[in-house]
Amino acid sequence: MGKWVSVAKVSELEPGMCRSVEADGYGVALFNVEGTIYALDNCCPHAGGPLGEGTLKGRHVECPWHGWRFNVCTGERPENPAIAASRYRVDVVGEDIRVWLPPETEGAEP
Ligand code: FES
Repeated sequence: MGKWVSVAKVSELEPGMCRSVEADGYGVALFNVEGTIYALDNCCPHAGGPLGEGTLKGRHVECPWHGWRFNVCTGERPENPAIAASRYRVDVVGEDIRVWLPPETEGAEP
């Protein structure tokens, strides 16, 4: 059975920003795309790079290790949608950003 876990405050994640957080042992990458918060597994499907420490450009994050891009809304790699990062459900309650554990989708590796 899953549960909601508070992971950050809205004020800590300005639009256009991303960051890595931990929630009950899960690594979570948070993204703010024009005021909407998204969350993916923080572990890049390529080789484990921290997606929350990547560069967010529009709806895509670029992994800091080798530059693979992922759509933060779907988790998919635009160049090959068969490869995807796991996605978390996100809920914002007041100032609290919460994610649902475990992830909503299973990632798909190359
Ligand atoms: S670990 Fe993310 S692109 Fe290689």
